[in-house]
Amino acid sequence: RTEPLVLGIETSCDETGIGIVRGRTLLSNTIASSMDEHARYGGVVPEVAARAHLEALAPAMEAALAEASVSLHDLDAVAVTSGPGLAGALMVGVGAAKALAVSLGTPLYAVNHLVGHIAADLLTGEEVEYPTVALLVSGGHTSLALVRDLTSDVELLGETVDDAAGEAFDKIARILGLPYPGGPEIDRAAATGDPNAIRFPRGLSRASDMAKNRYDFSFSGLKTAVARWMEQQEAAGAEISIPDVAASFREAVVDVLVTKALAACADHGVPRLLLGGGVIANARLREVALARAAEAGVTVRIPPLTLCTDNGAMIAALASELIMSGRRPSTLDFGADSTLPV
Ligand code: KG4
Ligand code: ZN
Repeated sequence: RTEPLVLGIETSCDETGIGIVRGRTLLSNTIASSMDEHARYGGVVPEVAARAHLEALAPAMEAALAEASVSLHDLDAVAVTSGPGLAGALMVGVGAAKALAVSLGTPLYAVNHLVGHIAADLLTGEEVEYPTVALLVSGGHTSLALVRDLTSDVELLGETVDDAAGEAFDKIARILGLPYPGGPEIDRAAATGDPNAIRFPRGLSRASDMAKNRYDFSFSGLKTAVARWMEQQEAAGAEISIPDVAASFREAVVDVLVTKALAACADHGVPRLLLGGGVIANARLREVALARAAEAGVTVRIPPLTLCTDNGAMIAALASELIMSGRRPSTLDFGADSTLPV
């Protein structure tokens, strides 16, 4: 089977990603982020993200082609994220991908962003084995999936019922007076804190929750608990240790993520766990996941962070895999679907 040369376009959130792969080989992965423009709002502003994609796409594409040393006319296919994500942001990528595919006369593949995160693992150069459980955690999603076959059998087991894990980090950082994005800031502050200083709630983790919402996540109660704790301490005039609050909050998030991911592995008899999404940068999450997975006999795979955060290469990798499995291209009548199911 021949290995297709595929260009992937990712614009579902604030990263404009253009990636080029040949088969499972990564040739380039260019990312332009509008993160700085959102910082003063404390979160991603959809309209700002969409406009930034429009400006960044063509230069990012030129850079990706140059880095891969290929020309547009060499491409066997164009791939694009059609959802889930921010509607306006997705539309910019989808429009660009259609224009490109039509003008080049190449097949076009519309792919799912979450499955793209799982496909990122194909580009590490290591042997990939299925089935695997995948835990995807970022500012936009917190999802647990069972992957029996990347191209034909990805089952969403659960997801967040309110905030995404990264979003929780960003919101708590704001409460603690730390800048956006809050994940890295909290991680840093937590390094010198005591994770057991304050016992914050683990969302959807009581026995009744584990029966009904076993693989779902909830972080809004945790956010409220941290905010209330801070208010109480301030009202009492007590000295607040930001490192202790950060470490205790981080521990609560990490505990739930790892517990539920390993429950999914155990329930389905799957000894493999793949991690993806920007929150995977979290030092404690990696540490706890590796330690508890080892105890449970589960192998953990963590692709390099540039492949874990939103990027175009993972979109190209997924399309490449679909092509090699014989999947037909998408017809040109697809749109941007902000809630596209897995
Ligand atoms: O995947 P990503 O770059 O973009 C999307 O959200 O799609 O993830 C960004 C999110 C932000 O919410 C950020 O605060 C969080 O990931 N994050 C972290 C860390 N680094 C980034 N969260 C916890 N700990 C970190 N070290
Ligand atoms: Zn993502």
